[in-house]
Amino acid sequence: MSLPGSNSARHVAIIMDGNGRWAKRRHLPRAEGHRRGVEAVRRIARAAREMGLEALTLYAFSTENWRRSEDEIAALMGLMKRFILSDLDEFVANNVRLRIIGDYKAFPADITKLIDNALARTAGNDGTTLAVALNYGAQDEIARAAAKAAAQGAVTVEAIEAELDTAGMPPLDLLIRTSGEQRLSNFLLWQAAYAELWFTDVLWPDFKPEHLAEALASFGTRERRYGGR
Ligand code: FPP
Repeated sequence: MSLPGSNSARHVAIIMDGNGRWAKRRHLPRAEGHRRGVEAVRRIARAAREMGLEALTLYAFSTENWRRSEDEIAALMGLMKRFILSDLDEFVANNVRLRIIGDYKAFPADITKLIDNALARTAGNDGTTLAVALNYGAQDEIARAAAKAAAQGAVTVEAIEAELDTAGMPPLDLLIRTSGEQRLSNFLLWQAAYAELWFTDVLWPDFKPEHLAEALASFGTRERRYGGR
């Protein structure tokens, strides 16, 4: 176990919150907040790679987000599509491996096709893993994993863990939430068991690599005991 002050994070996850409030403060449509949110995704994915993180997991669309207006859902889908089309070559060139957690097959066929192509094109990469949570809910993930473990005859911690959407990724070290809210909102509930939490009032479209660096510096000073002493 690392000594206090010397921890370096391998896997960071972010609840990217506050796009709507960012837009509202500027009297702009919510979709504009999401568009600026994608720019933050791009910046932070680059920074995570440059800072040497093994994995970055981003909460892009929850199982609850289907309750938003049709217009907002369509705007988010359009942004995701454009993001894959514009950024996939950069991921391929930079050895980034894309991964999806959640049941993305519920998305429209044109998007699932783009995602499948992006997954296939980056499958051989062994640099930073960028995991995007789409139609993701942690309770749903745990229930699916437990059902698979049961079908194999052993509902143990290890058997469930092996069936989670994040199986094979490094343990989650640090979970960040932007925009001042301090809750997990059904994100990575299992994986957060021993993760450190870091909250900031910064709204997601304003989130910069220096904020990520600040969170990582805070993580570096924490003493992790995993229930021991
Ligand atoms: C939370 O802000 C943000 C979301 C629900 C969506 C996050 C999506 C993106 C940043 C863009 C798409 C992502 C990728 C990977 C291309 P909110 O709308 O809940 O903000 P509010 O709480 O201020 O209303």
